[in-house]
Amino acid sequence: MEHLKINKKAFTMVLAVFSILTLSSFLIQQPWKAPATADSKKSAVASDASTIAAGKELYIKHCQSCHGKKGKGDGPSSKDLDIPAGDFTKASTQSQSDGALNWKITEGRKPMPSFKKKLNETQVWQVIAFMRTLK
Ligand code: HEC
Repeated sequence: MEHLKINKKAFTMVLAVFSILTLSSFLIQQPWKAPATADSKKSAVASDASTIAAGKELYIKHCQSCHGKKGKGDGPSSKDLDIPAGDFTKASTQSQSDGALNWKITEGRKPMPSFKKKLNETQVWQVIAFMRTLK
């Protein structure tokens, strides 16, 4: 019986450590990476002035509140975010493929919303074309 008691204690401890690890992995957000398969998806729009203008309009409406006018992550809602919205002018964002950015915008990741239902495919490419001007 004594034997069983110790095992129970050990089990409880292992469970506690496991819970803490699981919890902290939720609290400390891992870097956001699009799956490698997303890279093969190519933009379906030409990156010309009218595309960029359309993308800018969509950006102002849907993205600027968090990401800021120039993509610096300093929009008016950014102070309420648990996780910084990042800085689109940096190479860490600009070096990602159009397909990877498309995947992230479509999927979202809390607190960033998914735009699957709000933007159609063409609109997502237009926003990306505008994002490319934020350097
Ligand atoms: C409610 C605030 C909010 C809105 C609105 C929002 N985002 Fe975000 N976005 C975030 C946050 C926060 C992150 C960082 C998420 C993370 O790292 O997990 C992010 C990350 C991103 C990233 C990844 C950047 C990188 O370097 O990997 C892209 C791309 C992006 N957003 C595009 C957009 C676009 C385009 C829109 C509008 C259509 C938009 N977001 C709207 C909050 C927002």
